[in-house]
This record gives sequence, structure tokens and C-alpha cells, in this order.
Amino acid sequence: MPPVPSPAKTLPIAMFDSGVGGLTVLHECLVSLPHEDFVYLGDTGRFPYGDRSPEQLRDYSFELAELLLGEGAKLVVVACNSATAAALPQLRDALAGRVNVVAVVEPESRLAAEVTQNGQVGLLATPATVDSKAYERELAHAAPKATLHPIACPELAPMIQDGNEFDQRIVDAVEAYCEPLRGAGVDTVILGCTHYPLVRPILQRALGRGVTIVSSGQAIADAVHEKLTAENIENDTGRRGRYSFLSTGDPEAFRAVGTRFLQMPLGKVRQVDVREPRQKAA
Ligand code: DGL
Repeated sequence: MPPVPSPAKTLPIAMFDSGVGGLTVLHECLVSLPHEDFVYLGDTGRFPYGDRSPEQLRDYSFELAELLLGEGAKLVVVACNSATAAALPQLRDALAGRVNVVAVVEPESRLAAEVTQNGQVGLLATPATVDSKAYERELAHAAPKATLHPIACPELAPMIQDGNEFDQRIVDAVEAYCEPLRGAGVDTVILGCTHYPLVRPILQRALGRGVTIVSSGQAIADAVHEKLTAENIENDTGRRGRYSFLSTGDPEAFRAVGTRFLQMPLGKVRQVDVREPRQKAA
């Protein structure tokens, strides 16, 4: 008789972002951990997060994490830099003893520290993430001699999520955001927003071939695997996992944009209610 898995092992891994950006993280997890189930929540009803205050982002993060735990989850992944930068220590404290939290920011900083040769590291992120100085703190820890060159990109995530990711406006915006980084001679650029890998080819062309782009996807997938192993809650590796989606905005709009970005079928997206939605549609 095969051993009966503990309930925690069979629960899904929960993940949230302000919208579709976290799908770049989900995709890496689906590839690395095909035997796990995932539930992804896109807070499209309150998108974008990039101009929110730290207090709002903390409230939203607590609310979304509780919502996901209410659905049943064995681990929470914060696939949003703005939320991580504002809320990670408090969220970890609030969920201590219930579930572990894996988040962005630290993994990208560690990767950038490993990759940079000249110590000049660029950061492209939302205003909320840049203002938090979370990347300064993490990079100072990982590479004390490196210098961070942060650029706030208020328009980029909304342009990507609005579904115009390949039009000239994005190319122009990317060129303008990358210009000071070229001037500073960075050899490494952190994509400090989970939406940005969706326009990676445009970013790479604007930055030039000599610049290494660092993003969180694979590092998060590795961190998730480590946590599952450490806690002995990895699901049976012989099975094929399922994934499902929740959205706080219009589920059909989320499905349409999400399918294009994930390039995998999303299935039915379930709408969930949260406090203070900014908009009705996705
Ligand atoms: N994807 C999110 C991040 O990583 C935020 C984009 C936004 O909502 O402004 O920061």
C-alpha cells in the first residue's frame, strides 16, 4: 500500500500579484514543479500597485493571503515586487506557524550580486518598489561594494497589462527608462517587477547585448522547491499537477490577457471580492 500523503502535501501552492505579471513566476514554477497544484490570484480589481502606499500594499497583501489560505494552501508565494517591498516581514510574521512565504526581491538581488562584474547594477521597478529601498537593502547585503541605479517606471506595468505589450509606445517608454542605465555603465539590470519579463526582448535591445538581465522566475521556483523539501510537504512527484485562477477584476478579461502571457490554457477564472476595488473591469 502506498503511504497516504499528509493533507498539507496535497494542498496547492498559492501565489498572488496585482495582475498578470506574476504569471511569469507561475510559469517557471509549473515547469520546475509539474507535480504540484497551484492557485494564482490576480488582484486586477486594484491594479496597478505601483502607485499605492506601503500601508495599502500591506493591507492588500494580508487580505489576499488570508483569502488564499481560506481556499487551502500549503505555501504562499508573493509574485509581486511592490507587495513584497512593502509587506514581506509583516506578512511572514502574520502567517508564522501557518504557512511559509516565498517572495521576490531577495532572489533577484542575490542573482545580480553573483552576475555583476563591474558592480554597477540597474533596477527597473514600480515607484512603490523603488521608494521602499528594498533592493538597496538586499543588494547591500548580497554585494556590499555594488552600486544600485534605481529607475522608477510608472507607465510600464500598466502598458503591459493593458495588452499593448508590443506597440511602439512600449518601445519608446523602455528606451527612455533604460537610457540612464546605459549612461551609468551598468552591466546587470534587475527586472524588479514581475510584469517586465513579458517585454524582455524589448528591454534587452534597449540595454544592449552586454547587459545581463536578471529576473525572479527560476530563482523563485528553486526557493519554492527548497521550502517544500525542507518542510517535507512536496506532493507526489509521479503525479501531474493542476492549476487554477482567481481574479478580483473581470475574470474574462483576466483570462484573455493571462492566456496570452502564460501561453497555456487558463480554464475558467473565478472572480473573488476584495475591499476597495479600483475598477470593475480587468
Ligand atoms: N507586478 C507587480 C510588481 O512586481 C506590480 C505592477 C503594478 O501593479 O504596478 O511590482
